[in-house]
Amino acid sequence: MSRVAYVNGLYVPHADAGVHVEDRGYQFGDGVYEVCEVRGGRMVDERRHMERLVRSLGELRIRLPMPLHALGVVLRETVRRNRVRDGFVYLQVTRGVARRDHYFPVPEVPPAIVVTARRVDPAKNEALAAEGVSVITVPENRWDRVDIKTVGLLPNVLAKQAARAAGAREAWFVDADGHVTEGGSTNAWIVTKDGVLRTRPAEHGILRGITRTVMFEVAEQLQLRIEERAFTVAEALAAREAFLSSATTIAMPVVRIDGQPIGEGKPGPVVARLRALFHSVAEIAR
Ligand code: PDD
Repeated sequence: MSRVAYVNGLYVPHADAGVHVEDRGYQFGDGVYEVCEVRGGRMVDERRHMERLVRSLGELRIRLPMPLHALGVVLRETVRRNRVRDGFVYLQVTRGVARRDHYFPVPEVPPAIVVTARRVDPAKNEALAAEGVSVITVPENRWDRVDIKTVGLLPNVLAKQAARAAGAREAWFVDADGHVTEGGSTNAWIVTKDGVLRTRPAEHGILRGITRTVMFEVAEQLQLRIEERAFTVAEALAAREAFLSSATTIAMPVVRIDGQPIGEGKPGPVVARLRALFHSVAEIAR
């Protein structure tokens, strides 16, 4: 079965799907995106992802390309046409196509939109979670608006590639004060010796992950306390457990940081419980 992409109003074969050479996303990274998990053919936390999309667009003064309910139809249709049961749907909106010029186009042009969907094998993620992943640390070198989910991800790309080169899965950015901000494409967490979940506050310096937000409700159900306070690499190494969160990983145990084991260097029970309960707390539309 061949894949299909939605590009500016048309469903086209994935292999032929392209955007204009002067799409501002392509030339300036002038656009935003969302990645939403698909489980059992249904989108997970669509409402929250759409809320964050609206916020990201608002911060960059890009118009919503179509009303939210219509966008929902496109997302679902892309999932359906690609026969995705388990996987992801990717949505990107850019400021549109205009002659290259840094200023916003005048007159305004319609925003450009791309939606793709792909399958993943859930068993592979489970196998990864059973083993845990390694992270490396890298100096924070991103701009100060990482709360906006923009497609400008070059520092993230370079950090994650450095992780891969070091045999790790993720890179944790560390700010000038020695505190972990977040991963290249995930939020960062530890479980302290007292069993408290600790993650950096989302006001500044990180993306407010949807998975992170839902994890607060999951923790509440498990009667686990969450503290929104930044942690250092030393604190992470002294922690009982560590993990990362995103739509693509859910709660994924981190077992090594810069080659040093956390706890016994194996996935711990707290992250396993968070992971197991996650989808019964997340919003999955019927
Ligand atoms: N990444 N932090 C960053 C920098 C991210 O890129 C992401 C998501 C997250 C977690 O957000 P959420 O829980 O809403 O997925 C945190 C997506 C999955 C990606 O870029 O592929």
